Amino acid sequence: MLSRLIRDHMTAPRNQGDMEAPDGVGQVVGPVCGDAIAMRIKVSEGRIVEARFTTYGCWAAVAVCSLITETVRGGRLEAALKLDGTELARREGLPEDKTACAELAVEALHRAVRDCRPEK
Ligand code: FES
Repeated sequence: MLSRLIRDHMTAPRNQGDMEAPDGVGQVVGPVCGDAIAMRIKVSEGRIVEARFTTYGCWAAVAVCSLITETVRGGRLEAALKLDGTELARREGLPEDKTACAELAVEALHRAVRDCRPEK
């Protein structure tokens, strides 16, 4: 069963839309569904100070992107890299066929983190 948290992010997504001058950008396209997700982050002293996303993905992609943009804000880049999409999908009660959507969203975040310049 879907968690209340995921339902909340699904019906009222946060941090959706573009970002000016991000420090890191991560983009992915689902190999099976073909949906696109882009994650953009701003970083200061090794911490994520802002995260935003855009997607042409399904409801699960929107909900997970929204959730992780709030989850990683204020946290260290290394911590964001430890986020696991499969574990998140299981914990939040996503249907099995939506696990790949969570993995895709987290991969976009990981790419955004890796895209940051090291001195940030
Ligand atoms: Fe493509 Fe969910 S079906 S992101």
